[in-house]
Order: sequence, then C-alpha cells, then structure tokens
Amino acid sequence: NLKALIGPSILNADLSQLYEESQKLLNNGADYLHLDVMDGHFVPNLTFGHPIVKCLRSKIKDAFFETHMMVSKPEQWIVPMADAGVNQYTFHIEPVNNVEDVCRKIKENGMKVGVAIKPGTDVAEVEKYISISDMVLIMTVEPGFGGQKFMADQMEKVKYLREHYPLLNIEVDGGVGPSTINCCADAGANMIVSGTAVIKAQDQASTIKLMRDTVQQ
Ligand code: DX5
Ligand code: ZN
Repeated sequence: NLKALIGPSILNADLSQLYEESQKLLNNGADYLHLDVMDGHFVPNLTFGHPIVKCLRSKIKDAFFETHMMVSKPEQWIVPMADAGVNQYTFHIEPVNNVEDVCRKIKENGMKVGVAIKPGTDVAEVEKYISISDMVLIMTVEPGFGGQKFMADQMEKVKYLREHYPLLNIEVDGGVGPSTINCCADAGANMIVSGTAVIKAQDQASTIKLMRDTVQQ
C-alpha cells in the first residue's frame, strides 16, 4: 500500500532560522523535508548546498531529508550530499547524459533515487528510468522559485504514471496547497511537496493533516 507523505519545502521559510523552521514543520506532522538545491545555472536562482544540509542534519538526526537537485551537474554533488546525511537524492534528468550512471552512483552512496522532470519534458523521458529509481517527481511549476501557480495540465503525466505503475512513488512539487491538493490526489500523486502554502499557513499542523488525509483516501 502506498503511503501519502507530505514533504514541506523550506525554500520560502525564514532561512536565517533554518533549523527552527524545519523542526517546527516536523513537529507539525511533516513526513519528510524537501530541500531545494539550486545552482544558478540549471535554474535562474541560488539557494544552498551540502554544507548547509550537513549543519541541518547535525541538529535533526532522524528526519528523512530529500534534496531536490536543480543543478546542471547532479553527479558532482552525490558524494557530498550523502556525506551530509541526505536520504534521497532527487535530480533532474534534462541536463544529464547518462541517467543510469547517476542513479547507480546515488545508490552506491546509500541514498534513494528520485528522477525529476520539468513541465516541458515528456513523461516518456522519465518513464525509461522507473525501474532503476525509487520515485518520480513531476514538477507542477517551472523550477526556480517558490510561490508560483500550480500547473494543472501536468496531472496528465501523474495519471499516466499511476495507471501504469500502481506502486510507484509519484511526487508533485510547485504550487501545491489545500486548494490544489484534490487535483493531485485524484491524479494519483502520493508524495506531496508544499512550500508557501504550509510555511505561510496560520495552522501548519492542520494544513499538513488536511493534505495528507486528502491524498490517503
Ligand atoms: C521550485 C521548488 C519547489 C517550490 C515549492 O523550484 O522546487 O519545491 O519551492 O514551493 P511552492 O509550494 O511555494 O511552489
Ligand atoms: Zn522542489
């Protein structure tokens, strides 16, 4: 049975309080943390890298950390991120020549593998790698910034994957919150990233619970 999991993105949190913000999300019921890593090259924005992730891990021992690698050379950061204590390394396949090699190296370093596609990338491009990965991420905004509008047309990809792969972990990321969660749940996503909607919520715990309950029907 597939579990519904909510992984808040800390991108739009107060990053001067990264530890406190992260711990608060976990206390409020987050199932995992989605850490958005950007290199200013694959996407037109910069966030943080493995040194910060390592500091966060030193204070939060037991939470599941997923890094969403929006970078041009994902192979370059596998070892440092594994060393920083990352549990799942999710990378975009678009800039990568040999996706199989990257998947293998991630596993060799003890992490789970996530493969991600941008809105403009066909689902068939990522379907090839399902057998060698643990999760597929269907982006529901152009990667680079939090707080953008959810792209409902991406649900076609989620529906297709769910129909063909009943046990696949399918994650959605971008513009997901209480007003768009039904759409994601109906399409069959089970791993839900939510940034602004959770961070800015008056009541984080009930927002997280509402989304999990909607997905876990
Ligand atoms: C976008 C990031 C997302 C995003 C989520 O590039 O990958 O994780 O920040 O934030 P919201 O939910 O605000 O779109
Ligand atoms: Zn993300």
